Amino acid sequence: MSKINKLKDIISNSNNIVFFGGAGVSTASNIPDFRSQDGLYSEQYDYPPERIISNSFFMVNPEEFYRFYKNKMVYRDAKPNYAHIALAKLEEQGKVKSIITQNIDNLHQMAGSKNVIELHGSVHRNYCMKCDKFYDLNYILDYEGVPICNCGGTIKPDVVLYEEPLNNEAMTKAIQIINQAEVFIVAGTSLTVYPAANMVRYFPGEHFVLINKEKTSYDRFADLVINDYIEKVFEEIVK
Ligand code: OAD
Repeated sequence: MSKINKLKDIISNSNNIVFFGGAGVSTASNIPDFRSQDGLYSEQYDYPPERIISNSFFMVNPEEFYRFYKNKMVYRDAKPNYAHIALAKLEEQGKVKSIITQNIDNLHQMAGSKNVIELHGSVHRNYCMKCDKFYDLNYILDYEGVPICNCGGTIKPDVVLYEEPLNNEAMTKAIQIINQAEVFIVAGTSLTVYPAANMVRYFPGEHFVLINKEKTSYDRFADLVINDYIEKVFEEIVK
């Protein structure tokens, strides 16, 4: 049996599938990932990107942070691809229970997925650091330079920056869901950023499926590894 047929079989026999994804889920929507050869971290900037998108950098140099963030991390016109669409369809059919994503792009929700846990936040939520007023993405992108609230406070995206902890509630819920899943599909992530990568270890079941175009250090823990493009795999699955 081919690997895709094996995956089709696993999916058709379960109503408790949890999907855990990373930047590779959105590359077919023209959002670059971080660690591929043509990923965001392979380009040259004045500072290493991990430094720019850290909390301490944001606090001392919000101009530079926002220049990078608006240019490289936010894709206002991106549309869901086959992977997002197929996952939303599988949720509607009662197969996929939850999506846990490290992405901040909102594409799963745009495709129609309802149960999405955003481990690293979202570019669509932004708050004034002084009065906590909410601002949408358009406000941030249309504002020249560092977006400032009516009260004079600096607006910060609700995105988990380096040096910041993950949202406790999202993390606890994600671990609980992974722990109760029957099928666990991990896709499009290098599994190198913690604590998100560690969550994969909470899956106790027998159907741990890993889909990634390159090998990862977690391949040896998976029951089925598909080294291919996610959007292609999901297009096949829902065909
Ligand atoms: P990475 O860039 O580290 O990993 C993306 C993985 O997806 C790589 O292993 C690619 O080979 C694979 N990939 C890319 N496109 C693919 C495709 N179309 N089909 C199959 N595989 C594909 O991204 P993440 O693991 O998501 O954090 O990175 C984790 C975190 O690091 C991000 O959430 C971000 C970053 O720092 C924050 O910004 C807080």
